[in-house]
Amino acid sequence: MTMRAPSNISTRAARAAERISRDGAWGEDPPATLEALGAGLQVCRRCDLWRAATQAVGGAGPSGAALMLVGEQPGDQEDLAGAPFVGPAGRVLDRALRKAGAPREEIYVTNAVKHFKHDLRGKRRLHKTPGAGEVSACRWWLDAERRLLRPKVIVAMGATAALGVFRRPTPIGANRGRAFPLDGGGQGVVTFHPSFVLRAPEEAGKAEALAAIVADLKFAWELAAG
Ligand code: URA
Repeated sequence: MTMRAPSNISTRAARAAERISRDGAWGEDPPATLEALGAGLQVCRRCDLWRAATQAVGGAGPSGAALMLVGEQPGDQEDLAGAPFVGPAGRVLDRALRKAGAPREEIYVTNAVKHFKHDLRGKRRLHKTPGAGEVSACRWWLDAERRLLRPKVIVAMGATAALGVFRRPTPIGANRGRAFPLDGGGQGVVTFHPSFVLRAPEEAGKAEALAAIVADLKFAWELAAG
């Protein structure tokens, strides 16, 4: 079955998207531009998460960015807006980036999984952590983003992002503060997910979590600039 791409994208990108998304087309060439990638995402059927999501949420930022940040998956607000990290976790990320002296507009921000996985509780959509199968299915897109951008440094924010980037479970606390060579080029760094700050019960815990993320982002920004 061939999926139809949305009509607000160029015909060439839409055709490429339909080709990429064809059922069983795992061997298809990856998209050649960020535009084609964005179009392909909207018709992606590599796992079932598209069914309950409003739209796929691709990365945002300049194609020449030396630093790529990878989160888990879009949240409720990102799913509606079609952009990554625009909700509460995004505000924490913005604050951490400001403190780290790393301008968000010079950084490419994306997620390991591009559709919002959630449970419905009445009208509320409650975040559900993506499984390893979904991370693996969506890695095709993350790898495509990496191939197009070739960032010097990739920061995996949280365990799901680390699984997407490093292809194996990578505990965050034990691996912070170091850079690891990545298959396919560049270096990988881990930090806590910004929502860790939101979930910390005490003010002191929130401040500590934020300080850790700031330190890791500063490290990654300087590494990418070097
Ligand atoms: N959390 C994420 O991991 N990514 C987003 O885009 C928003 C919240």
